[in-house]
Amino acid sequence: MGAAALILAAGEGTRMKSSLPKVAHRILGIPMVRYVVDAARAAGCEQVVVVTGHGADAVEALLEDETCVRQEPRLGTGHAVMCAESALSGVTGSLVVLSGDSPLLRASTIKRLAEARESSGAAAVVLTTTLDDPTGYGRIVRSSAGELAAIVEHKDLDPAQLGITEVNTGTYCFDAAVLFEHLRRLDNGNAQGEYYLTDMISLFRSEGLSVADVSTDDPLETLGVNSRVQLAEAAKVLQRRINRDHMLAGVTMTDPDLVWIAPSVTIGRDVILEPMTMLMGTTTVADDCVLGPDTRVTDSAIFAGVTIDASVVVGATVGEAAHVGPRAYLRPGTVLEARAKAGTCVEIKNSVLGEGSKVPHLSYIGDATIGNDVNVGAGTITCNYDGTSKHRTVIGDGAFIGSDTMLVAPVTIGEGATTGAGSAIAKDVPAGALGIERCEQRNVDGWSTRKRSARSSDEQ
Ligand code: UD1
Ligand code: CA
Repeated sequence: MGAAALILAAGEGTRMKSSLPKVAHRILGIPMVRYVVDAARAAGCEQVVVVTGHGADAVEALLEDETCVRQEPRLGTGHAVMCAESALSGVTGSLVVLSGDSPLLRASTIKRLAEARESSGAAAVVLTTTLDDPTGYGRIVRSSAGELAAIVEHKDLDPAQLGITEVNTGTYCFDAAVLFEHLRRLDNGNAQGEYYLTDMISLFRSEGLSVADVSTDDPLETLGVNSRVQLAEAAKVLQRRINRDHMLAGVTMTDPDLVWIAPSVTIGRDVILEPMTMLMGTTTVADDCVLGPDTRVTDSAIFAGVTIDASVVVGATVGEAAHVGPRAYLRPGTVLEARAKAGTCVEIKNSVLGEGSKVPHLSYIGDATIGNDVNVGAGTITCNYDGTSKHRTVIGDGAFIGSDTMLVAPVTIGEGATTGAGSAIAKDVPAGALGIERCEQRNVDGWSTRKRSARSSDEQ
């Protein structure tokens, strides 16, 4: 397409009642403005410029790789475009102008808008829609011949125009050269004392330049997020869109209303997602997995045939046919190799659990390298932190770690070695050996019987 895009994101968003700038609010973990940037890129816009203002530092931090220009003070949408003029110098042809608070706009619509301008040669094309309740929106005013004549802001409407339900969505495609040639002629003689970008339409018309419009019959697509109610509405629309695409591609969802998937997540075929499952960030899920119920997976790679039940998985790799949960917590740097198991109430961090190895119950494994076919007994803990530094635990293939072993790192358990249940193992255990650290047990004959009879005589 070769167009450039300008995204207006300097507004404060007072109705959000927030210390965070409006466009920094997240939907499915991604800041609102990012959706707009991504849609512009997906539509083929090579150059993207974002106008920031309110909370500019916070917004720019979310847009590391993008060009941002600051609008200070903020004197309206027309003024915002003026602030971007030098950043866009050299742009000829189509300039798409979008609002940073419209995260539902589709790339295909942006493309359609630019193509309409390019095929008609119009100086501007406006994306319009018709709303049952147009309150607050700029209205589309047409000539008697039905041509787009002007956009009039709600606060500037004549009483006779109040009934117009066709509105400006705030999405445009301009001929960049023509726009910047006329932009400085905007004035702020209106109800809000602002430089309105929307006034370019009547200005172009008065110059005899052609303007056109394209409409969308999906008002959800152009929903502007101005409050937290609309933020939730936008999230719901995105959830439905994303879940529908996955279901059509072969993913089963028992209840799609209770499954939340971020836009960048990829999922294979014949995956089953049970209720209350969230897949966030850059997560990838291969074929034949069953995830949930009650599971959150973030920035993780899940291989084929994995089961994750009621667990939290963050920054982990879960190998083929591995099993997680219920109530496991896999933290960043965890790698479960094929057929490994992190079972009930098990926390693992920055560790590798080799093929077929199992940590079935109530354990903490941190900074460990565990070989293949190792069995880690219930209640085992790697004591990896001495209050200053973290130390590694290394366990060789085929080792058997007895229940309630404290592995005081740094420590190495050799291949095929065993540790006795209840041992605090602070010294290396050689391959094939038994490491046991336990006080000898003493049995006191008759102790319990005596205690019980003493109690019953007290009670009489
Ligand atoms: C704007 C349009 C209106 C349209 C509506 C659609 C104008 C004058 N009006 O109104 O016709 O129906 O969008 O949602 O354009 N912004 C800046 N700098 C500013 C002011 C705004 O960057 O000085 C940004 C905002 O952050 C926002 C976008 O421009 O992303 C639109 O501004 P907003 O104040 O929300 O305009 P509306 O009153 O909604
Ligand atoms: Ca708005």
